[in-house]
Amino acid sequence: MKNVKSDTRDKLVALVIDLIKAKALKKVVLSKPDASDEIKSILSPKLISKEQVLQLETFSKDNKAYHRNIKDGYDKELDILFSNYSQINVVSALGDIQFMRSKGGKESLIGDKKVKDKLNTEEFDLVDSSENNVKKKYILSGDEDFLKVLGVSDSSGRIRDKMQAKFRQINKFVEHIEAIRDKLPKKDINIYDLCCGKSYLSFAVYHYFKNIQKMNVNMICVDLKADVIEYCSNLAKRIGFDNMEFVCGDIIAYDMKLKPHLVISLHACDVATDIVLNKASDNGAEVILSTPCCHHELNHTLNCQALSFVSKHSMLRQKMCDALTDALRLLKLESNGYKVDAMELIDPEDTPKNIMLRAIKRKNVSPERLNDLKEEYEQTKRFLLGELK
Ligand SMILES: C[S@@+](CC[C@H](N)C(=O)[O-])C[C@H]1O[C@@H](n2cnc3c(N)ncnc32)[C@H](O)[C@@H]1O
Repeated sequence: MKNVKSDTRDKLVALVIDLIKAKALKKVVLSKPDASDEIKSILSPKLISKEQVLQLETFSKDNKAYHRNIKDGYDKELDILFSNYSQINVVSALGDIQFMRSKGGKESLIGDKKVKDKLNTEEFDLVDSSENNVKKKYILSGDEDFLKVLGVSDSSGRIRDKMQAKFRQINKFVEHIEAIRDKLPKKDINIYDLCCGKSYLSFAVYHYFKNIQKMNVNMICVDLKADVIEYCSNLAKRIGFDNMEFVCGDIIAYDMKLKPHLVISLHACDVATDIVLNKASDNGAEVILSTPCCHHELNHTLNCQALSFVSKHSMLRQKMCDALTDALRLLKLESNGYKVDAMELIDPEDTPKNIMLRAIKRKNVSPERLNDLKEEYEQTKRFLLGELK
């Protein structure tokens, strides 16, 4: 069939992509092909060399099977693929969906609403594409009052369409916190969210420690924007999030009045991430979790002959500078006595600003090792800025 636009197929493509993102897709079986030499195709998510792909296996009438891995551009690829079959069965951890097209071209979907509702509201088992099924639960469901008041979910707890990405982002961030839970105090905790903006994340983190972990929480959130700070401050009072304070100001001038156990920051603009990391480590935070935003400083100052074969390509230059900036940030934290990691926050399709820098204060580290790391950091900076003799 010609690839004419179809709302029903658009719906199916969007749902399948959402299922992939939620790691809930098991397989898609495509039958009744338009092509006379084919029998059917099966599409399944796979992890190949640590890369998430959709594998398409097509069975032909001459008993052969052909494979193709789809790595990106899922919406276009799926739309074209789906237009070539009259029956499509989607098998997912949240239920099955059936798509049918009659000879006269009438299209119908069965089971889609149920799956969509589950995607939006329920906790579910994630399907790990490496084939080991891993039981995994979202920490936030959408039904929490603060999410409703913030407009992330509606009164029934359904995540609003426009807020899906933000919801996944804060849920993932909280999962990163849960993963290092044992590095933090058990009873009383002081948390800072620097460059908090509208504070979706701050509210989620407060909720996690206060309502799920049942701890005493002091949380301080700082941002430059007076209107946003006033809004969040009123909202915290309204929903009874005690000891959650919002401060309007520049984080560079902000003095931490409580010893920080956990410092978080999500997409602090450009060098604001460096200010966050310095402030957190200078004040001895136990754990720092920061997802940087775009940064440009190194792109302007890079002067390194050895890397010119990369930096002469402007597209690659920015990507390399992003990676170098984050690696330098981690090296600096390491030289301040932290165990450091760079991790992926969430599906890169949601946002390209997706690197989570994680720093956990080491208990024992020799002063000699720290001196070596400081020297390495200074040398690396000089190397990148063309100052090495
Ligand atoms: C991209 S927004 C991210 C907001 C929030 N963390 C989120 O992820 O939704 C960046 C925020 O950083 C704040 N910001 C940037 N530089 C700052 C500084 N020096 N001091 C305080 N806030 C700053 C901005 O006002 C803005 O609200």
